[in-house]
Parts: sequence; structure tokens; C-alpha cells
Amino acid sequence: MTIQLKLDTTYIHDSRLGADALPEDQIAGLHGRLREVLDEIANERRAGQHRFRELPHLRIQVDEIKQIVAEYKDQTDNLVVLGIGGSALGNIALQSALNPYGYNLLPADQRKGPRLFVLDNVDPVAFEAVMAFCSEDWSRTLINVISKSGETAETSAQFLIVRDRLIQALGEEEARRRIIVTTDPAHGTMRGIVDREKYRSLVVPDGVGGRFSVLTPVGLFSAAMCGIDIDGLLDGAAAMDQAVSDPNPATNPAARIAAIHHLYMERGKRLHVMMPYSQQLKDMADWYCQLWAESLGKIRPSDGQNVGPTPIKALGATDQHSQVQLYREGPNDKVITFLEVEEFDVDTVIPRGFKDIEAMDYLGRSRDGTLGGLLNTEKKATELALLASGRPSLTIRFPSVNARTVGEFIYLYESVIPIMGKLQGINPYDQPAVELGKQLTFHFMGRQGYEKSPMG
Ligand code: PA5
Repeated sequence: MTIQLKLDTTYIHDSRLGADALPEDQIAGLHGRLREVLDEIANERRAGQHRFRELPHLRIQVDEIKQIVAEYKDQTDNLVVLGIGGSALGNIALQSALNPYGYNLLPADQRKGPRLFVLDNVDPVAFEAVMAFCSEDWSRTLINVISKSGETAETSAQFLIVRDRLIQALGEEEARRRIIVTTDPAHGTMRGIVDREKYRSLVVPDGVGGRFSVLTPVGLFSAAMCGIDIDGLLDGAAAMDQAVSDPNPATNPAARIAAIHHLYMERGKRLHVMMPYSQQLKDMADWYCQLWAESLGKIRPSDGQNVGPTPIKALGATDQHSQVQLYREGPNDKVITFLEVEEFDVDTVIPRGFKDIEAMDYLGRSRDGTLGGLLNTEKKATELALLASGRPSLTIRFPSVNARTVGEFIYLYESVIPIMGKLQGINPYDQPAVELGKQLTFHFMGRQGYEKSPMG
């Protein structure tokens, strides 16, 4: 299986970057270490670690997801996902990438499924706005509560409210039918509630953390309900698995991305901007930020150093008018990754409205005189403008945005993480620093067992 995404590293090698150019021979200087890292990961994978790598092949509960979709789709106008962090960002990213912009605003007969609301915050104003849609007809609303731990205060609070409203509107029995819980297969508070209340449930597979779970029922169920081709997503991920299992760091795209970032981090470039020139991929950059931040921002056990890049999302062309001033003339501490789309699903010709006014006419006259052509031209202009200021950038090129290429992208960026983790000397799969804030919340909210402040 060949992969469709292309990695273009032209503008990290270019000599116009001066001392910040990264020629192939410098990347090759890391190949010895990278070979060891790829070998370790392959061995650890055989021993059952890096569980997310198996997801495209295991296709966990895909048949069950399709069965639930077949049962519920015609009875559902609103699908509400309750979750946060890794239990929400992938769902949002899939929906924006693979369903039309403004999907929820389309009439029912033009949508491929229910409207989707992913509630990943406890802001009461946003929450009640979604509840207003649901209360039009609770019997046509389906709730998917997603929490691996079943302990997350935000998701639990939302669940308590929504369950209460469902029961008030429909009674206990029908309310039960409108709740699907995605949680740990055996452990945790939410699994206990599923067993006691006999809710229908899906699993977050063992050994797969939230931010690596988009290709499990966590991300796949809402996607399938909204008509997204989940087999295509998994096919794309499976194809990328072959590419990132390549033991040769020179041809393994995940190893190349990790090497570039690692070497630039050693030169003080710790800010990693992902800048899609595609509205569809905007939320993929959000997903990437969580994956990068929670996995790689750590205290290194061997020397107690605080390590890790800072991921940043930007959107082309919008942020050319907001961030690019900083990226060109601010501190030279960033590497920009562009996401570029060769063929947009639709494209719009720019008409020649004022042939006598050159400041208008060139747009429609240009051989790139479409909105997609202008967007890609602006991407090219931005990468060259960055180059002129000595700022390196790389590009991930999508031939088009579809389930398969999105599956490839997700799997590629997930696979970079354990490589970066090993190069940095940290465990990318835990998030110990998130814990204190959670415990303080339990303490202040009066949870039993947390009477003593964890701050001492
Ligand atoms: O990636 C992670 O592990 C986190 O972002 C979790 O997904 C997030 O904290 C939500 O946790 P849970 O699914 O247990 O409610």
C-alpha cells in the first residue's frame, strides 16, 4: 500500500536559511540513533507496547459501531458528544475535515447524519445553547458520553445534567436508550455506571490513551453517525503504518519529521507551528497541539530537565494577517509545518469584474484565478517570505482531503510521538502534570477522600 501524503522538506535544506539550514548530511548524523529508536519501538510493539499502532488492523468494534449507527441514525437529529481533551478533539477534527463546512446548518435531507455537537467544556452559556437544540425533541437526541477514566469532572458534570434532562423529558427507560457510553472496557467509575444502569457502551481499548484514541470507538462512533467513511480512515492509517514501520530513518516519514524537530530543538527552535492552508484541516491542528503538548512536555527523569516543544496552531491564509509578522521578524525560535491541499473538493473561479482596474483584474485573469489557487499561491508566498527571513518550514501535502488521507495524517503524527519521546528521554504516554489540577478541583468541590488540599 502506498501512501498519498507527501512530505516536502525543501525549505529546511535551502542554503538561503544560512546557519539555520538543515542539510541532509546533518539529518543523516542522527540516523544511527534513529535506527536504534525505530528498532526499540518495533521490539516494544511486538511485546505489546505502543498499542495505538495496532488500531488500523484490529478495527476495534467497527462492526458494532455500524450496527448501532444503523439502529439509531434514522431516529436521531442531534448527536451530542460529552468529553474533553483526547475524548473530544479527534471527534471535532474528523467532523471538520470530512463533512462540509457548516454541516450542522444544512437541512436534514442534505446531511449524512444527525447534527453533531461536541461539548468539550463546561461553559454554561455554550452548554445551554446546545441544550436548547436538544430540548426541541429529546426523543431524537442521542448522547455519547466519552471518558476513559470515568473520573473527569467536566464530563461527569455534563453527563449528570443531560441524563437528568433526558429522564425528565422521556422517563427512565427511554432515557436509557438515548445514552451510549464510551469508556474503559473493565475499570473506572463510568464502567461501573454502565454495568449498573445497563447503558449501551463502546470501549476505549486498553493501553490506548485519550490523545491516541481517535481511531477507536472514541472518534469512530460520532464520525460514522455523521456519514464519515470510517473504513477509509482505518485504511489510510494502515497504509501509513507500513511507511512508518520502515527501519530506514532516511525513508521513514515519522522518523524524518522527528529528526527535523529534534535537531531544530537542539538549536533553540522549540515552537512548532502547524499551519494548514485548508479550513477543513484547521481542527486537525488543534488535535495535533494536544498530542504534541501532553505527550512531549515533560520532566526528563535522567536529569530533571524540563523538556518539550510548544505546539501552536495557525490557519492560512487567515493568520497571514495575524501571526506571520511575528513568525518573520519575532524571535527565530519556530519551525512551521504547512498542510497543503493539492485538489480541493470544490473550487470557485474568481470572475473578472473590473478589467480596467488592475488591482482587481489580476485575480480573475491569473491562471491560478480560483479561491483554491489563491490559497495555495498564498501558501507558496508565505513559505518564501519565511525563507527570506531565514525561517525554516516543511510541508505535508494532501492530494485531497478525504477519509484515507486524514487516516494517514493522524497515524503519521501519532507515530512521530514515541520517536520524539525516545530522542527526548521521556515517556510520551503519561500526563502526570495534569493530575494536580484535577485533585485540587476535587478538593474544592468537596469530593470525599480529597478533604486535605494536595497543596499541603
Ligand atoms: O489524552 C488524554 O489522556 C487526556 O486528554 C484525556 O483524554 C482527557 O483528560 C479526558 O480523560 P477521560 O477520557 O478519562 O475523561
